Amino acid sequence: MKTIILFVAFCALLASPALAEEQHQHRRPDDIKQYLEHLDSTERDRYQKPDKVIEVLKLKPGMAVADLGSGSGYFTRRFIEAVTETGMVYAVDVEPEMLAYAKESVIHMHIPYTAEFILARPDNPNLPFESLDLLFVCNTIHHLEERSKYFSNLKSSLKSGARIAIVDFYPDERSGDLGFPKHHLVARDTIVQEMAAAGYQLTREHSFLPKQYFLEFVAK
Ligand SMILES: C[S@@+](CC[C@H](N)C(=O)[O-])C[C@H]1O[C@@H](n2cnc3c(N)ncnc32)[C@H](O)[C@@H]1O
Repeated sequence: MKTIILFVAFCALLASPALAEEQHQHRRPDDIKQYLEHLDSTERDRYQKPDKVIEVLKLKPGMAVADLGSGSGYFTRRFIEAVTETGMVYAVDVEPEMLAYAKESVIHMHIPYTAEFILARPDNPNLPFESLDLLFVCNTIHHLEERSKYFSNLKSSLKSGARIAIVDFYPDERSGDLGFPKHHLVARDTIVQEMAAAGYQLTREHSFLPKQYFLEFVAK
């Protein structure tokens, strides 16, 4: 019974105009706590497959990872576990309240960690110079403007051989009913073209996510 109530609440949340609007436009959601809880919902795990995502990224202790558009910290916490306290995780978001929520959720893990919570500008993640082994971007790429310029500028934050991993919803029937219009989503081929223009080549592509493409790039 509890599961049914939670599922109905989740569907209602997806259908809510406030949430729907935020999903495809870069503006602050009206109810940020409700939005963050939605990002962290266990129902999401079914299609998001976070354990498998972490596994295929082949992270090792000591690595440095940035979670661009970290939201609730859904992936940030998993990166912290993967790279351990010997590594570094940068949670990066334009919303201070989301960063605070993510930080609080990391503290509640009660494990040692090394992380920074960075307030980004819409056109600049404010990441340190040559700091990253991996930049991870989940359901956030469609929020970014002038993406080729953004990722071209971002090269200065990458270590030699670093990867950029991009996961986002297919803008078609494969992503199912997302509860918001899909015209702000960006097609996989467009991302590949824009990343090529920014100076990156596609090196791996994972096809196990039912609703999203999952691409890995390195600088050419
Ligand atoms: C749909 S949420 C995805 C959150 C998280 N990546 C996840 O998969 O659970 C999009 C996030 O991107 C953030 N965001 C939007 N524009 C951004 C930008 N230009 N730079 C960094 N974060 C941004 C939003 O504040 C929000 O937290």
